[in-house]
Amino acid sequence: MTGGSAAGVTVRPAREEDIDAMVDLLAAVAEEGRWIGTEAPVDRERRRRRYAEDLQRDNTVVLVADAGGELVGELGLILARYGVADLGMLVAAGWRQRGVGSALLRAGIDRARQAGAHKIALQVWPHNRAAIALYERFGFQREGRLRRHYRRRSGELWDAIVMGLPLE
Ligand SMILES: CC(C)(COP(=O)(O)OP(=O)(O)OC[C@H]1O[C@@H](n2cnc3c(N)ncnc32)[C@H](O)[C@@H]1OP(=O)(O)O)[C@@H](O)C(=O)NCCC(=O)NCCS
Repeated sequence: MTGGSAAGVTVRPAREEDIDAMVDLLAAVAEEGRWIGTEAPVDRERRRRRYAEDLQRDNTVVLVADAGGELVGELGLILARYGVADLGMLVAAGWRQRGVGSALLRAGIDRARQAGAHKIALQVWPHNRAAIALYERFGFQREGRLRRHYRRRSGELWDAIVMGLPLE
């Protein structure tokens, strides 16, 4: 599917009552072990508290992809005072490649712009081809590579690619 018009999926701001499902989604993607910074096992209570705090902060935007009441994706933005919005996102494994990520990203870019950010920044594992392809389709450029930067629970040191999207 192209253009991010995932049928039956609505992108909307996260609400307090989404928090349990957001934690479930994060835990499930962390369990996959390959795509996101967060590693399993996820400390659910801590995550719940963090999401609850995020929903209160005015420098943070949390959007969810809602498929008729099922939470199938999430995107977070944290706007730094210097104007850069840091982005993180994920889509449930069974819902990938159907335009959900595109719909979330399109809405996230709009929200970052509305919030006055001049740029969106993110980091992605070099092996995460799906994410890199999605970001590049939306105009993000590779700005550099952090080498042997992140220590994983396995002890391995992983590189990360830094990507950016200027909004001006
Ligand atoms: C990356 C991710 C968010 C993409 O979400 P998605 O809903 O699958 O994305 P879409 O269906 O909107 O795909 C949009 C475009 O992304 C690219 N893409 C998505 N999945 C891809 C894959 N498996 N291989 C190659 N390109 C892919 C394509 O360019 C695609 O466009 P196309 O369908 O016209 O080819 C999703 O794979 C995911 O949540 N992965 C696990 C968590 C993660 O990696 N988060 C990002 C961390 S930096």
